[in-house]
Amino acid sequence: MKTIFLLFLMLCTIDAGYLDNHSCKECHEKIYEEYQQSYHAKNYFTDELHRKVANAASKTTYACARCHMPMADNLKDLISGKARPYKNNKTHTDGVSCFFCHTIAYVKKAHRFNVNVKSRQADGYKPTLYGRLVNPDESDKHSSVNNPIYGKNVCSGCHSHKLNENNVTIFAAMKPQQDSLECIECHMPEVEGGVEKMDKRTRGHHASHRFLGIHDKLFRQTGVDINLSVSGESLDITLYNKMAHPLIIQPARAKFIKVQIRREGKTIWQNYRKRPEDDKQGYFGYSFQKNGKKIIVPATATSGSVHNLDTKSRLTLHYDIPQVQKGDEIVVGLWVQFAKSDCASAVKLEDKSLTKPELIKAIHYTVKHL
Ligand code: HEC
Ligand code: HEC
Ligand code: HEC
Ligand code: HEC
Ligand code: HEC
Repeated sequence: MKTIFLLFLMLCTIDAGYLDNHSCKECHEKIYEEYQQSYHAKNYFTDELHRKVANAASKTTYACARCHMPMADNLKDLISGKARPYKNNKTHTDGVSCFFCHTIAYVKKAHRFNVNVKSRQADGYKPTLYGRLVNPDESDKHSSVNNPIYGKNVCSGCHSHKLNENNVTIFAAMKPQQDSLECIECHMPEVEGGVEKMDKRTRGHHASHRFLGIHDKLFRQTGVDINLSVSGESLDITLYNKMAHPLIIQPARAKFIKVQIRREGKTIWQNYRKRPEDDKQGYFGYSFQKNGKKIIVPATATSGSVHNLDTKSRLTLHYDIPQVQKGDEIVVGLWVQFAKSDCASAVKLEDKSLTKPELIKAIHYTVKHL
């Protein structure tokens, strides 16, 4: 009796036409497993940083759902505050779900944030999923339609930009006309293995759904080139951002440069003493104010600014250093803090790994002659 009741409850909470992430595993096993490790699979309950910032922004409304819980069957109620995230509802725990991405019909450009417009379908039909495959096999779970949006705009519905109610930019990662194909080339490279378990068409490869990003130690080394030139008491460090977006696209994030000069195993000079933010030119991140006072959670900010390195741009940092000697070693590291120190204390993060700086990449240079 109890199980029947539970089953009934589950049926009520799942949108009639919704196929959850797990249901794709039956046929798209590899893609499902990649996806499960990705940050798109994270949700309000499993991403502490997101949850704490969301709760600090508002205890009653969850407007973040538009992009963070887009498949929610009660999206409007979450946004207005009539309902709260619920952990036994698959449309709440599925994150940026397979079904959501593959049913975006088009993206509507707008001032505060873009809007993903979903395809609609009459009840009783197999759902239609959009993709880029040419002439896909028949599937008994869904029909497949080739839709050009999967090259053009599919990432821009959420990743483009966001302004708060006071028109303050919370993030701006993409230019209005920017193509999503470049995002896909870097973040969804072709990997081995058929699209689907049976692989009747022996395609042999598919677009990776791990969506590697800043959390992957190897992948994150590829975003920025670091070069240095040193002469006497002067050190120039040049950063070149190869990515199709600015270095900082997330207000909780900090990225910074740490420079050390080592002589006989001892550090004789560093670009900051204790806190990386003390070296203003080498510290990248957002800062927000409300009526002139610094605030951390940007939801109610009235102004904001960001020290950033734009896409495909170069920046040279200049340092006055002690006279170098032959044999000195110069180490230049680019580091990331997933949650800036001030953000972590403002929202009381428990997971200490979020504030512990992690290396993005480093270069080592030994002074050979003067
Ligand atoms: C317009 C779409 C959109 C809305 C609305 C939105 N976000 Fe996001 N958010 C994103 C995207 C895209 C990312 C991934 C970007 C990144 O990681 O740099 C992200 C990432 C984040 C992260 C970093 C997560 C991590 O684990 O590193 C936090 C924190 C966050 N958002 C908080 C919020 C909060 C709080 C709200 C609601 C007040 C919100 N977002 C609303 C699009 C949005
Ligand atoms: C019963 C098996 C089955 C299930 C379950 C299934 N699919 Fe498929 N899917 C297929 C087959 C077969 C193809 C065609 C593959 C090919 O042509 O190589 C396909 C193709 C696709 C494509 C490519 C469409 C295109 O035109 O590029 C997408 C996207 C897709 N599936 C998404 C999903 C998602 C999301 C789920 C879960 C909600 C899912 N599938 C569940 C069998 C299935
Ligand atoms: C429905 C909204 C939505 C769409 C569409 C979307 N994303 Fe995301 N993406 C997010 C959110 C939200 C996050 C952050 C999730 C979190 O950390 O909790 C994110 C995170 C990421 C990350 C960060 C991974 C990391 O390690 O931090 C990458 C990379 C990414 N998305 C790439 C893409 C690409 C490429 C596309 C287009 C093919 C895309 N996204 C489409 C919402 C979206
Ligand atoms: C030339 C390769 C390249 C292209 C093109 C590219 N990215 Fe990235 N992206 C990276 C690398 C490398 C990282 C991780 C290093 C970093 O963030 O500094 C990254 C990081 C990210 C992150 C996580 C950043 C964070 O701090 O949380 C998101 C989200 C993201 N990319 C989305 C996108 C979107 C959306 C597009 C399309 C506009 C795109 N990327 C295009 C290489 C690329
Ligand atoms: C953030 C959006 C997003 C999410 C989430 C997502 N996909 Fe995709 N998927 C894409 C894009 C974009 C492509 C097209 C990539 C290309 O053609 O290079 C794609 C391609 C595919 C394909 C065709 C294979 C290929 O090589 O083109 C299948 C099948 C598929 N996805 C299934 C899934 C399944 C199953 C899940 C969940 C486990 C999922 N997708 C989650 C965006 C997404």
